[in-house]
Amino acid sequence: MKTYRIAVIGGDGIGPEVTREGLKVLRKVAEMEGFGVELTEYPFGAEHYLKTGEGLPAGFLTEVRQYDAVLLGAIGDPRIEVGMLERAIISGLRFGLDLFVNLRPVKLYAESLCPLKGKKVGDIDAIVVRENTEDVYAGIGGIFKKGTPDEVAVAEMIFTRRGTERVIRYAFELARARGRKRVTMVDKANAIRAMDLWTRTFEEVGREYPALAQDHWYVDAASMQMVKSPESFDVVVTSNMFGDIITDLGGMITGGLGIAASGNIHPGRTSMFEPVHGSAPKFAGKNIANPIGAISSAALMFETLGLKKEAAAIDAAVLKAVKDNQVTSDIGGKLGTREAGDYIAANIR
Ligand code: NAD
Ligand code: IPM
Ligand code: MN
Repeated sequence: MKTYRIAVIGGDGIGPEVTREGLKVLRKVAEMEGFGVELTEYPFGAEHYLKTGEGLPAGFLTEVRQYDAVLLGAIGDPRIEVGMLERAIISGLRFGLDLFVNLRPVKLYAESLCPLKGKKVGDIDAIVVRENTEDVYAGIGGIFKKGTPDEVAVAEMIFTRRGTERVIRYAFELARARGRKRVTMVDKANAIRAMDLWTRTFEEVGREYPALAQDHWYVDAASMQMVKSPESFDVVVTSNMFGDIITDLGGMITGGLGIAASGNIHPGRTSMFEPVHGSAPKFAGKNIANPIGAISSAALMFETLGLKKEAAAIDAAVLKAVKDNQVTSDIGGKLGTREAGDYIAANIR
C-alpha cells in the first residue's frame, strides 16, 4: 500500500480548527481509495513561539523535504509583533523551499455565493498563478533613523528574469495541460517601470504558445474587471503582491475568504497547501470558521501529487455541501466548522 507522508502545521487562530477538517476529509479519501497517509504534526505558531522563542526552527527546511507535502492552517496572532511569524513560517517555507508558484483557483460553486449581480456558475472559473518568491516579499530594505523626523523606510520590489520567466511558463503550461483558452498577464508596468520585465517576458514566452489567447491588464483595471466581468479571466499570472491582493478579491466574488484554497508549489518538490485566509483571531475556538478553504487545499494537494480522482472526489463533496446548504454561516448555512467537515467527509464518493 502506498503511503503519503504529510507534515501538518495547524498554526494560529482558526488554523488548527480548519486543518482538522481538512485532515478528516483527507483520511476519508485515503481510506476509500486504499492508500495510507502518515501525518506528522508540528506545533509552529504563536504558542510555540511564546514558549520556546522559536519561529521556524533551523533544520526544519531540510527535515521537511522528506515529506510528500505540507498542509498549513494559518499563522498570525495579535500577541506577536506584526507579521513576524507570518514572515518566519509562511514566507520561510515559500522562500526556503523555493515554492515559486502560488496556485489560487477562483471558482464559483453556486450562484447564491456570488455578491455580483447576474453572475452564473461558469462565469467565474479562473486560476490565478501568483509568483511566490520575489517582489517586496524578498525583504530587501528596512527602516533607517526609526522614530526620528529623518526616518526613511525602504522596501525593494525585486523581479528577476529567471523568477519571472519560470512562473509565466508555468502558467502557460498549466493552461495548455488543463485545456484552458486564455492566459492574462496582470502587472503595473505603466507606473512601475521595473515591471516592463513582466510585460516583455510574458510576450516572449507567450510566442511559444500560439494556441492560447493572451492579454494584459494593469492591476488596478484588472480589479475593476474582476468585479465587472470576471468571465474575462481564465488563467491569470501575476507578481507576488498583486497576486496576494487580487486573490482576496477573487475569494470574495466566489463566497468569501472561508472557501478560497491555495497551493505553494515547486513542481516535483515538497510543496505546501493552505487556505488563502489568515488566522481570523476573532473566530478562533468558536467552531464557526468555514473549513472549505482548508479542505479544498487538501484537494489541491492531491491533485499536485497526481491523485486527480481523489481531488475530484473532494471537489464534488464540497459542491454537494454548498448545494445542500450544509455549510457554515459565512456562506449562509447553519453548521459549525466540525459539522461542515463531517458533511463533506460523509459525501466523499
Ligand atoms: P483573515 O483572512 O484572517 O480574516 C479576514 C476576514 O475574513 C475575517 O475577519 C473573516 O470575516 C473572514 N474569514 C477568514 N477566514 C475565514 C473562514 N475560514 N471562515 C469564515 N470567514 C473567514 O485576515 P486578517 O484579519 O487580515 O489577518 C489575521 C491574521 O492572519 C494576521 O495576523 C495576518 O497576518 C494573518 N494572515 C495569515 C495568512 C496565512 O496564514 N496564510 C493569510 C492572511 C493573513
Ligand atoms: C497570504 C497572506 C500572506 C501573504 C501573509 C500572511 C504573509 O496574506 O498567504 O495570502 O501576503 O502572502
Ligand atoms: Mn493574502
